[in-house]
Amino acid sequence: MIELKNVYFKYNNNELLKDITFKVKEKEKVVLLGINGSGKSTLLKIINGLLFPQKGKYFYKGVEINKKQLKNKEFNRKFRKEVVFLFQNPDSMIFNPTVYDEIAFGLRQLGDKKEDIDEKVKYWADKLGVYKYLNEPPFNLSGGEKQKVCLAALLILEPEVLLLDEPTANLDPKTTGWLIDFLYELNLTTIITTHNLSLSLELGDRGLVLSEDHQIIYDGNLEEFIKDIEMLKKAGLVHIHRHRHGKLEHRHYHTHDF
Ligand SMILES: Nc1ncnc2c1ncn2[C@@H]1O[C@H](COP(=O)(O)OP(=O)(O)OP(=O)(O)O)[C@@H](O)[C@H]1O
Ligand SMILES: [Mg+2]
Repeated sequence: MIELKNVYFKYNNNELLKDITFKVKEKEKVVLLGINGSGKSTLLKIINGLLFPQKGKYFYKGVEINKKQLKNKEFNRKFRKEVVFLFQNPDSMIFNPTVYDEIAFGLRQLGDKKEDIDEKVKYWADKLGVYKYLNEPPFNLSGGEKQKVCLAALLILEPEVLLLDEPTANLDPKTTGWLIDFLYELNLTTIITTHNLSLSLELGDRGLVLSEDHQIIYDGNLEEFIKDIEMLKKAGLVHIHRHRHGKLEHRHYHTHDF
């Protein structure tokens, strides 16, 4: 469904992605891991057709996604409906006066009938637990609630590929548990970024890991990656510091859930 071939991307003189090659099958759940600045968000933006690689190619359902392809109005509508992206910061997605308008926005753009939109907005608002806020300005909501509104605004489009950038970063443990179950039941092709190792196992079976120097250093079973301390060191996903246990002090590598 998704195929990247030797994708290279730089911003000004910063190389952000080097020689990225992988495929994602339909309904696969991929967890994208990597330290801050490794290029996770940039990679999702390429898959969402918001950025274009300077070298290499990106294919969605066998069609190369580039500026020219997305200028085709009909294709653009189809692609924008099928591949959706939940940004790392929900505030950067919210711009409508009410939660209702926020969720309805995409379908209005696509020109759906008013009654159909109304039914779907109510359905998704209810499913995501934000029904009671429909007439509120989204800016008044908490971070977690805003994220649910954004997710409703994407899912109303009935997408096929869901790209989620650090979706659990603003959520409390209870809401995180809810989101994990919710995503599992959605049964869509998903690519999710995180640097929370233990949580990552709940989000998918396949791990794709970006190194500090912006290359893929692991693509495979996520559980095996997490058990492999040498790989974790290579990815910068473990750290070392002093521990104090009473009078004893020692140093060793270990992981944290940030
Ligand atoms: N538009 C831009 N202008 C300047 N620098 C950029 C731009 N976009 C990305 N970068 C830089 O590219 C690097 C990689 O960014 P990216 O957001 O893809 O990393 P990330 O893996 O998602 O990090 P994080 O875990 O912090 O979200 C960062 O150092 C960032 O500052
Ligand atoms: Mg990021």
